[in-house]
Amino acid sequence: MQGAKYHAAVATGTRLAELAELAAEAAGCTRCPLAETRTNVVFGVGDPDADLMFVGEAPGRDEDLQGVPFVGRSGQLLDRLLAEELGLDRSRVYIANVVKCRPPDNRDPRPEEIAACRPYLTAQVELVAPRVVVSLGNFATKLLLDTDQGITKVRGASYPMGGTVLVPTFHPAAALRGGGVVLAQMRADFVRAKLLVGPAG
Ligand code: URA
Repeated sequence: MQGAKYHAAVATGTRLAELAELAAEAAGCTRCPLAETRTNVVFGVGDPDADLMFVGEAPGRDEDLQGVPFVGRSGQLLDRLLAEELGLDRSRVYIANVVKCRPPDNRDPRPEEIAACRPYLTAQVELVAPRVVVSLGNFATKLLLDTDQGITKVRGASYPMGGTVLVPTFHPAAALRGGGVVLAQMRADFVRAKLLVGPAG
C-alpha cells in the first residue's frame, strides 16, 4: 500500500485504536453515580472515519442492556431517517451520547453527570473528526453549542464548532411523540447535514 491510501489506512487504524482504548477506559468508569446502576457502558458505535456523527442524550433500557446506542424505538427512527434522507446505514456514521450510562428510570441526566462524562464525548469528536455533527435534542445541543436556548429556537441552521459544523435537530423521541411536523423538520435537518458533508472524500 502506498501514498494517500496508506496514510488514510494508518490514520483509520490509529483512530480505531485510540477509540478502543477510550472505550475500554469508559467500561470501568466510576466518575459519577450512574456507574452503580448501569448494566453496560454505552460508549459509541460506527465508523471511526465517519464524515457524519450523531450525538444523543443518554442510553435507555435497550441500549443499557445491549451496550449499543440507539437500538430502541428512537434508534429505529434514526436508522430510517439515515436511510431515507442520506442513503446511509449506521455503519457509515458514528453515533454517541452525551452520557454513556443509563439514568435510572430514564430520568434526565444531571449536570454533574454530564460534566463527568463530557471528556469522553470531547475525545470522540476529536478522534472521529467528522465534517458534521448532528446533535439530537436539547441535551446534546445545549452542551455542544454551549447555549441555554432550546432546540426549537436553534434548529434550522448550522453552527461552526471547532474544525467541524454542528447541525442541531430534535431527538427522535420528540418525533415519535410529536408526529408529522417534528418529523418533517428532522428530515430537513438531515438534508442540511447531508449538504454540509458534501461529496464523499
Ligand atoms: N436516546 C438517546 O438519547 N440515546 C440512545 O442511545 C437511545 C435513546
